[in-house]
Amino acid sequence: MTLPWYHKTSIYQIYPRSFMDSNGDGIGDLQGIIQKLDYLQDIGFETLWVSPFFASPQQDFGYDVSDYLSIAPEFGKMNDAFQLIEETHRRGMKIVFDLVLNHTSDQHPWFLESRSSRDNPKADWYLWRDKPNNWHSMTGGSGWHYAQERGQYYWSSFLPFQPDLNWRNPEVKQTMFDIARFWLSKGVDGYRLDIFNTIYKDAEFRNNPFTFKLVPTPDDTSGYFQKTVHSQDQPESFDLAREFRNVTDEFGETFTIGEIAARREVLRRYAGELANDGLTLVFDFEMLQFKFRAEFFRTLIEKIEIHFPPPFMPVYVFSNLDKRRSIHRLGDDIRKAKLLAMLQFTVRGVPCTYYGEEIGMTNLRLPFNTALDPIPHKYNFAPRLLFDLLDVTVNRDEVRTPMQWDGTWNAGFSSAEKTWLPVHPNYAEVNVENETRDEDSLLNTFKRLLKFRRENETMQEGSFDFLEGLPPNVLGFTRESHAVLLNFDEREKEIHIEFSGCVFKLTGREEIKEKAVRLNGFGGVILE
Ligand code: GLC
Ligand code: CA
Repeated sequence: MTLPWYHKTSIYQIYPRSFMDSNGDGIGDLQGIIQKLDYLQDIGFETLWVSPFFASPQQDFGYDVSDYLSIAPEFGKMNDAFQLIEETHRRGMKIVFDLVLNHTSDQHPWFLESRSSRDNPKADWYLWRDKPNNWHSMTGGSGWHYAQERGQYYWSSFLPFQPDLNWRNPEVKQTMFDIARFWLSKGVDGYRLDIFNTIYKDAEFRNNPFTFKLVPTPDDTSGYFQKTVHSQDQPESFDLAREFRNVTDEFGETFTIGEIAARREVLRRYAGELANDGLTLVFDFEMLQFKFRAEFFRTLIEKIEIHFPPPFMPVYVFSNLDKRRSIHRLGDDIRKAKLLAMLQFTVRGVPCTYYGEEIGMTNLRLPFNTALDPIPHKYNFAPRLLFDLLDVTVNRDEVRTPMQWDGTWNAGFSSAEKTWLPVHPNYAEVNVENETRDEDSLLNTFKRLLKFRRENETMQEGSFDFLEGLPPNVLGFTRESHAVLLNFDEREKEIHIEFSGCVFKLTGREEIKEKAVRLNGFGGVILE
């Protein structure tokens, strides 16, 4: 059996503003990424996903695009993007860009034209109505905003400066498909697709029904007392997944991953019904709020295996640019982070790592009122504790601080006086240089795990089965010829098992006797 590359790969997410600053202006850039490609190749990641760096007023730091075919000056020029693609490929890695299909910036020339009158050539490129309906935006409050020039309201699913495109207009669809084709023709290996399930809205703009639900959750975008039945997951969105796949297929085996918050049955529909003929992969965000317990992961994997059996491939992701870093949920315990990584790289699925996760970078608590991220300003009135209790990340600055490369000025990220977001003060300790030297570090654990995954095809392609009858808080499964045992407990566990050789020890102190394995606290082994 051999699967397409995008079902076997491992993903590393780069937030370009925070990765590496090559010219000392305090903002990460494309040349900075190029300087660090050797680092990424050396850890062993196979696919890089780079958050948007296209022309943009940067009100949502690139997720508000004003020209999809040029590069924001702070990130570089067109040639830097081409060089980034080429240099990534030269190292045997793949690279995917981040495409925002749902909306543009309100500074995009299309929108400026569209809002200027009711009868210009782009008049129907966005969603205009004389009167708002009851729909809420994803960030709370009405998503309808008045434009004086037209005397009408436009719809935006996210923030007011991100007007939604009208995908029912064939010109819009064609233009966006051509944009996708443009970067594919320049060699990019695919796309991460921003808020893919909001692209189509009800054609008649029917009001959304009431619900008692206040907070949107990873499995259901309903919230703010409203079910999102008419503003999300329309039948046309599932068709779009297939249509977009046909576009990317023109360029061979191409990667597409959808950012979708929905129930797993719905997630699956974006990947395809019987065959994987929609998006090649979709994120599953329930696991961002994981509990560090064998039982939690057992249930999670069971459900995922039901909805994403072969020929589908699940994605395992624990951190991203919008949510608290996984290490936070682990009480900053590196031993737990290693075990979580071992699960992520051995379970059946494509692993996705957020920059800095490999060295255990932590969140930086920052006040709402000085946030650069626009979202916290909407929620300034409410006490901070409330959001902590609800497990909601409001100020996304906290998870986007500069990458910590070494113990020098600005963690080696930038020579600037001041970086765009502050560097986390723990950089003297938590940084790439320190962890490269320390054999036992989280970083070196990532390297060992990725190497093992690359060198053992069963870890990528093998079928998956749970091992039964294990002690409490131990998770075990087989990947055909290999068995994986993970101890989520601080206490030692002894396990009797029929496998002969041990091919991977997480802590190095696991003991293998005849037909028995002793796992120390947070230990893990792979047997053969
Ligand atoms: C996605 C991105 C987020 C962005 C939003 C609007 O959720 O991950 O960072 O702000 O879409 O484009
Ligand atoms: Ca820079």
